[in-house]
Amino acid sequence: MSASNMLAAADDIALDVQDLHKDFGGIKAVDGCHLQIPKGKISGLIGPNGSGKTTTFNLLTGVITPDSGKVIFNGEDIAGLKPYKIFRKGITRTFQITRIYREMTVFENLLSVTYLKIPMQKARERAEELMEFVTLTKLRDEYGGNLSYGQQKLLEFARALMTDPELILLDEPAAGVNRTLLASLLERIHELQQTGKTILIVEHDMNVIMNHCDKIFVMDYGVNIAEGLPEEIQNNERVIEAYFGHNKNASAGS
Ligand SMILES: Nc1ncnc2c1ncn2[C@@H]1O[C@H](COP(=O)(O)OP(=O)(O)OP(=O)(O)O)[C@@H](O)[C@H]1O
Ligand SMILES: [Mg+2]
Repeated sequence: MSASNMLAAADDIALDVQDLHKDFGGIKAVDGCHLQIPKGKISGLIGPNGSGKTTTFNLLTGVITPDSGKVIFNGEDIAGLKPYKIFRKGITRTFQITRIYREMTVFENLLSVTYLKIPMQKARERAEELMEFVTLTKLRDEYGGNLSYGQQKLLEFARALMTDPELILLDEPAAGVNRTLLASLLERIHELQQTGKTILIVEHDMNVIMNHCDKIFVMDYGVNIAEGLPEEIQNNERVIEAYFGHNKNASAGS
């Protein structure tokens, strides 16, 4: 590959994860993970329960520190930086188990995002826009704890967008969300992609993964075992083996 080709390739990559490792007292949760997340696309990260997907998200967002490996974002290695630093560089995420404030209203939850780089007035305007975006405006003064589970997920999603991030990591956005809310969430995800954002989704719902992702990465036992287009992944022997071979609990078809 010529030098110009290499540059062109790098320009297409939003996040370049190189040989990431994390061991929890002997459990190799992430054991040499490589991901090249294409810029401006929706990608999926799948794998059986316990394969290291959430740990990877935690490593990418600074929630935990990698033992080794690189995470290149905009030409800079961000591996091991504090979460707020990574957040400020333009990466945001939602959690598998939502982390909204139950005792704050929807509006307050949005404003509670710390390390915003914008003035309060601008933050309020953005909060209003985002409530509209996720159709929660009517619930603006409702306490987080009174929202349905799906609505809490929408709120957390909106909260993640308060910083106007470049890269959005979503950990199981579909889990426990009813079909109507899920359709609305997926529409929003596509709208974000159309504005140039990069999205990476961890998800067990294969309909979401196969119908909405441009590219799919598959993890098993902390390493990525396959990547490709949805149709390639669906027919990949190693992926089928990972899901149905040794891990009968994996909810591949849910
Ligand atoms: N803080 C921790 N301490 C010890 N072990 C952990 C910790 N976090 C994760 N693990 C272990 O690391 C492995 C990977 O877990 P992880 O949560 O990343 O899996 P996952 O792919 O997100 O699974 P799921 O699909 O069930 O959410 C598991 O064996 C898990 O028990
Ligand atoms: Mg997980």
